[in-house]
Amino acid sequence: MLTVTLWQPEPRSLARCVAGAWEAVRVSRQPLRLAIIEATEQLEAAGVRSARVDAELIAAHLLGIERTRLGLTPLVDEPVIEAYRTMVAQRAKRIPLQYILGTAAMGNIDVEVGPGVFVPRPETELLLGWALAFLGTCDQHPPVVVDLCTGTGALALAIAEARPDAVVHAVELEPHALAWARRNADARENAGDTPIQLHQGDVTDRTLLPGLEGGVDLIVANPPYIPEAAELEPEVADHDPHSALFGGPDGLSVIKPMIANVARWLRIGGAVGIEHDDTNGGDVAALFAARRVFGEVVEHPDLAGKPRFVVAKRIATEVESRRGQAHRTAAESAGERMAE
Ligand SMILES: C[S@@+](CC[C@H](N)C(=O)[O-])C[C@H]1O[C@@H](n2cnc3c(N)ncnc32)[C@H](O)[C@@H]1O
Repeated sequence: MLTVTLWQPEPRSLARCVAGAWEAVRVSRQPLRLAIIEATEQLEAAGVRSARVDAELIAAHLLGIERTRLGLTPLVDEPVIEAYRTMVAQRAKRIPLQYILGTAAMGNIDVEVGPGVFVPRPETELLLGWALAFLGTCDQHPPVVVDLCTGTGALALAIAEARPDAVVHAVELEPHALAWARRNADARENAGDTPIQLHQGDVTDRTLLPGLEGGVDLIVANPPYIPEAAELEPEVADHDPHSALFGGPDGLSVIKPMIANVARWLRIGGAVGIEHDDTNGGDVAALFAARRVFGEVVEHPDLAGKPRFVVAKRIATEVESRRGQAHRTAAESAGERMAE
């Protein structure tokens, strides 16, 4: 007869074994939800307005998943929790979220950002949306686009991604910002986008980019426009570069001279959109309206209903219209003579 003896642990050692295994799980895996709740409280206490969203975005970034999928990861390893707490502590010091994550979104793309360069803002997506809609109606092939004050290159690169047929130029004054734009431009080119042309220059310089005079279909600009006396959140005041933010006492010190250049670069029928401080939408519209070469000046609000960007079209002056009419008449006469 065959006898099989099964090992039967003594009840007390079995209990110790189960408890040890449970302890190991308890130490190495922790509930993500609890960590996010703690982080939210810490960020709220530090005065961060979007505390919960930021706490979730940092967690999603660390785990490499969409924020909406956080609920599918109930437990995370201890090292993840440690890294999470470190990043949340940085955010609690009011370091911009995008500097911590290393990227900011614009249109269909992400650009890299870091200390010393302006962080692209969600409200600028409205200017991008208008620009892409205008390009949809533009009958020039290829359309020529210029992004003034490009910073990380976000607007220029988002346009190049959405419109691979466009010739996109971008201008930036600060070498440090230009280096970020180059880095992002290289990354987008490697991802298969049409390369953009970066220029270092001052958008208020009347001799800038002479080769583009009268040849540009669309100009977008998010220039420095905050009036000097404005009070700002610590993320902005302590981290965005001063030269990216302030536009003199009235916020118009870059915009005013830039508009003269816009008039020089746009072809007749071309359009421009300039983002501005919510206190001076009427002033920017008036700057366009004061020039005979601009028409169809329209102020656009942001999602909060505040004035955010102004658009205008380069129209033909009376002299240009007469010259154009004379041109057409001469061409028609020449055509008729050829037909005879
Ligand atoms: C508000 S940031 C906008 C950056 C980018 N367009 C965006 O939306 O993320 C303004 C940028 O203009 C640059 N800038 C400031 N004055 C300039 C000037 N006179 N000519 C060219 N660029 C200038 C700053 O260095 C900064 O990168």
